[in-house]
Amino acid sequence: MKVSTAIDTRMSCRAFLPTTVPESTVRAILEAATRAPSGGNLQPWQCHVLSGEPLARFLAIIRRRLAQHPRGEGAEYDVYPPGLTEPYRSRRFKCGEDMYATIGVPREDKPARVRQFARNYGFFGAPVGMFFCIDRQMGSPQWADLGMYMQSVMLLAREHGLHTCPQEAWAVWHEAVAEFLVLPPALMLFSGMALGYRDETAAINTLRTDRAALEEFATLQGFEASENLTNHPIPDPLSGPA
Ligand SMILES: Cc1cc2nc3c(=O)[nH]c(=O)nc-3n(C[C@H](O)[C@H](O)[C@H](O)COP(=O)(O)O)c2cc1C
Repeated sequence: MKVSTAIDTRMSCRAFLPTTVPESTVRAILEAATRAPSGGNLQPWQCHVLSGEPLARFLAIIRRRLAQHPRGEGAEYDVYPPGLTEPYRSRRFKCGEDMYATIGVPREDKPARVRQFARNYGFFGAPVGMFFCIDRQMGSPQWADLGMYMQSVMLLAREHGLHTCPQEAWAVWHEAVAEFLVLPPALMLFSGMALGYRDETAAINTLRTDRAALEEFATLQGFEASENLTNHPIPDPLSGPA
């Protein structure tokens, strides 16, 4: 599969078939993804994968807790910045509206929205649930590294005919996750991720999210023939001022 095809066909899958994924496939994906770059080659990713009986046992715990605390335990980090400004606020709103539209749930139908959101806590029916954690000493540069690792996992999953959904929704269950996985206190949960085979009949999987046009986020300079000089001197900090 071409990288561009993997990137283009990756989407957040929110309905999976129960078809199991072999351990060897998950291992191959997680191992190949370690070629992701990281500043200083820190490789600051920590990954826990649940499938089969442990996954069922974990999800049963979450179902019980969800019944008592529908909003979870509260997150350890802000999933979105408080007071999110434009254009991000509108993008977030539109993505939610577009998703609920695929399953015919209007804005007013709060119970239906809550039920759909709660499907996060069943990994949307995926046979594999993953958790991505990071050492608490790490800062935003290493969180970016972890994101690159996760994207590598998601693209490699495509190569194996699999789909994924990254899930920050798990952040509000960080205590339950840490307890079940027996995470050392130094580790912090960033995100979950569902992995499995996409249910091609599910309406929710028809969502193709928007993207801003290139002009909205990128500026390019120096591509005119007259400007395109390639003989830049290599800086040498030891030879004094240029
Ligand atoms: C780190 C991360 C966490 C996410 N968490 C959730 C989540 O908890 N639940 C969910 O349904 N989608 C989640 N998403 C999916 C985003 O909504 C999705 O990536 C975005 O709308 C773009 O759509 P696409 O992934 O289908 O291209 C998450 C995405 C990322 C990158």
